Amino acid sequence: MSSNDLFDNDHHLDDDETNVNATTITTYTQKYHTSSLCKSLNHLHIDILSEFSHHDPTIARINNGSFGSCPASVIEAQKRYQLRFLKQPDDFYFNHFTQSILRSREAVKTLVNAKHVDEISIVDNVTTSAAIVLQHVMWSFFDSKFKPGDTAVMLHYAYPAFKKSVEAYFTRAGGKVIEVKMSYPVSSNDEIVTAFKNALELGKSNNRKVRLAVIDHITSMPSVVIPVKELVKMCRSEKVDCIFVDAANALGSVEVDVQDIGADFYTSNLHKWLFCPPAVAFLHCKDPEASKLHHPVVSHHYGNGIANESSWIGTRDYSAQLVIPEALEFVDRFEGGIDGLAKWNHEKVVEMAEMLVKAWGTKLGTPVDMCSSTAMVGLPACLGIMNDADAMKLRSILRERFKVEVPIYVRQAKDGEVDPVMGYARISHQIYNTDDNYYRFRDAICSLVSSGFTCN
Ligand SMILES: Cc1ncc(COP(=O)(O)O)c(C=O)c1O
Repeated sequence: MSSNDLFDNDHHLDDDETNVNATTITTYTQKYHTSSLCKSLNHLHIDILSEFSHHDPTIARINNGSFGSCPASVIEAQKRYQLRFLKQPDDFYFNHFTQSILRSREAVKTLVNAKHVDEISIVDNVTTSAAIVLQHVMWSFFDSKFKPGDTAVMLHYAYPAFKKSVEAYFTRAGGKVIEVKMSYPVSSNDEIVTAFKNALELGKSNNRKVRLAVIDHITSMPSVVIPVKELVKMCRSEKVDCIFVDAANALGSVEVDVQDIGADFYTSNLHKWLFCPPAVAFLHCKDPEASKLHHPVVSHHYGNGIANESSWIGTRDYSAQLVIPEALEFVDRFEGGIDGLAKWNHEKVVEMAEMLVKAWGTKLGTPVDMCSSTAMVGLPACLGIMNDADAMKLRSILRERFKVEVPIYVRQAKDGEVDPVMGYARISHQIYNTDDNYYRFRDAICSLVSSGFTCN
């Protein structure tokens, strides 16, 4: 049974067969719930086609990883908040806004197993969390707690914009950055753990102190699930002052338990894999009292704790932050809720990735247990993908000629490699995807190969 059967329109349940409202009655259960995957997930009461009918139907969007997606019912809820504010802004601001933000923070607190709601701040995106935490680290240099030459350790594959924040705050204040080199393709967690350990050793050399560790939970490009708990533990035992996890892609695609992970700061977007509209993220702070974080945009709540500071950064549209509970209601309509969806997307993306590498005679970039709801799929070497310009060229051709939206990664070849696969596609799976989306991608690449296309 393929996920295309999700979109079979023959079967309509009567309203009273369901607990959900009449606009979201399923259209596809009859055939679909014989599938074993579906039994575990049981997508029974959601009309996925209409929840995502605003997506361009001509495009095979297998790139949920970049910008996420937002169902119609959550967009409707967001509009209601926007209109409530526009209707009577003062009433909304004085009588409802604070409770609504608190409701969102409470929902996230439960979801990520924080100890207390004060540990949770709602911010625009992970880039904002980076500015909050790194500005705080910068002040430790100004307060002479840290010394010029003290180090930060982060993965070479850290998100480029995040690296810029480290440069803007940490390096400018006098810190030195050690990048953890990782070879690619990756074959095990041990490779990453060993590379991180070596970088920490280097960071401590010459009597320096490692002040900051930035650890991705899932790297962006290439996409790799990092053994975050193990790395946090290692940093803790090495007495790294500030352990900051960039988990931009994590919430909704892998399990997130902030107590279990144990970092000082952990941040994830909610607009990527949790169906919130752009843009909203949370920042978890293990010890908000002691760490004295401040939001870089200062407003009325300055000095009242980072959660309060973040809740008002001047007049703007806060609706994306207010619909977190509604996005979670959407998620909870699936059996197994957030975990069920993550498992389903993982299983589907692995199935589709394996189908693609089989068709193209290539390999995955990581073992399947290092994939989340995204997977890296080797592209045929004969496409001649050698550098970022080639990757961008292929991506544009796929979008414009074949209507496939997928990001392409290019790695450096190792010395002496013969006919290396250097290009990898990062495919994502989210509930709106159908198997046909991936077959279209497979056929597009096969047609480019058979026409003799090369990037260079
Ligand atoms: C690993 C990682 N960190 C940070 C970000 C930045 O997220 P945002 O642009 O929502 O702030 C991304 C976005 O894709 C990411 O993948």
